Amino acid sequence: MTEIATDRVVIVGAGLAALYAALKLAPRPVLMISPEPLGQGASSAWAQGGVAAAMDPRDSADAHADDTVRAGAGTVDAGIAQLVTDEARAHILDLTTLGTPFDRTPEGGYVMSREAAHSIARVVRVKGDQAGAEIMRALIAAVRDTPSVQVLEGRIATGLVTGAGRVTGIRIARAEGSQPVTITAPAVLLAGGGSGGLYAVTTNPPRIRGQVIGMAARAGAVIADAEFVQFHPTAIDCGEDPAPLATEALRGEGAHLVNRRDERFMLAIHPDAELAPRDVVARAVYAQSQAGLRPVLDTRACLGPRILSEFPAVAAACARAGIDPASQPIPVAAAAHYHMGGVAVDARGRASLAGLWVAGEASSTGLHGANRLASNGLLEALVFARICALGIGAALGPLADAPPLTLPDLPPAPLPDPALVARLRRAMTDGAGVVRDAGGLRRALAEIATVEAAQPDCETLLNMSATATLICAAALTREESRGAHFRSDFPDPAPTARRSRMTLDEARAIR
Ligand code: SIN
Repeated sequence: MTEIATDRVVIVGAGLAALYAALKLAPRPVLMISPEPLGQGASSAWAQGGVAAAMDPRDSADAHADDTVRAGAGTVDAGIAQLVTDEARAHILDLTTLGTPFDRTPEGGYVMSREAAHSIARVVRVKGDQAGAEIMRALIAAVRDTPSVQVLEGRIATGLVTGAGRVTGIRIARAEGSQPVTITAPAVLLAGGGSGGLYAVTTNPPRIRGQVIGMAARAGAVIADAEFVQFHPTAIDCGEDPAPLATEALRGEGAHLVNRRDERFMLAIHPDAELAPRDVVARAVYAQSQAGLRPVLDTRACLGPRILSEFPAVAAACARAGIDPASQPIPVAAAAHYHMGGVAVDARGRASLAGLWVAGEASSTGLHGANRLASNGLLEALVFARICALGIGAALGPLADAPPLTLPDLPPAPLPDPALVARLRRAMTDGAGVVRDAGGLRRALAEIATVEAAQPDCETLLNMSATATLICAAALTREESRGAHFRSDFPDPAPTARRSRMTLDEARAIR
């Protein structure tokens, strides 16, 4: 295999954590691996709600940390919650300086959205539901202006290279399928997103299928809390794959969840009704769908035609599906949305393998526990991208000269067989979805093994199946219900909360 050496820090991914880390590493030379042209294909750009931060004078980082810990159902690392919420304000100001046009009050403050399980309106937003897209626009412009960052578009990482107990580089291939080339590098930062697309019903962009977590697991990294997958209660149920999101901020504005019998079913389930913690609402919506009661999100009374101008992404998705949300309720379903588990990292963003840092959804910092507080995802990505950049800078010392890389022409190689990927996604939705039990998880593990055996030389498929295996094995091992992990055969929480940590070898031994 062709091998190229570089003194550039390799960043796998091109979402918010990747871009922000590249900026914070500057002027240290960076090589960023982006499967699509920058701005396309990253989950961050699809984030609607915004970034949680205590910007309101009546709010505080301590209150934000308390809400984060409470939502996480006993498994949040309180120290990490404090660290992240303490830094939130500085990052919002930084993004503002970088050109993010956050919605502002006439007095110059930040307009705040209300989202579930926050004790106060605490989510900074852009043009209603455009936060992810606008933050990404600002960061991409800044990265394009930063000469130290070389972006390789149209390439995917397929595996990590290890030697002497540390990560020494990566293998990359063309996104449309090619033999890989090995790049040896002084440090690797994984920031390539989560795994929602491992499920048949998801809000994540099509390429986000657990590949980055899987490649770290295949290299031997410890994976934490893999079983904690967050399902969003209000994906628009219109037959699109991925399913468009109807942001939680709509419920913050007063939208109601209703079924075909015209029952506002959340009233009987939780005192906070539609603003109950996300796992509670997701299970309720899922139960309604399973019972054939066709749940809908009704924004007509609270927003009426304002939804068209104030939530343009939702309005556009509705228009594509032939729904006029100003006069019709929006059909919704629970969909895999965010992986709270991921590569286990410490407070400095370091994985269990030397030479490897991880930020954003691919990581598990301990912030989210079993149920992520809404809009803490982008915040965590910002905070840990900077922490990783500082840590990498400190570990590598003085800047080295690192000319841009030129890659050789690479012979073609097959991509994952779409039929196998579809089987994997079906198995995860059926066996490791909103409601789980031992039988379903075992069936999913067996199907994952069959899929894996059918194309054993395709690294990208192996990365996906590794993450799927870890999710199912950790879910099988956790014989309790906690946050987003609900077992119908163990419906109560265990007396003591614990986080889970597992290697891929351990997960395979379970299957
Ligand atoms: C939403 O806008 O509902 C999603 C926000 C999030 O997942 O944090």
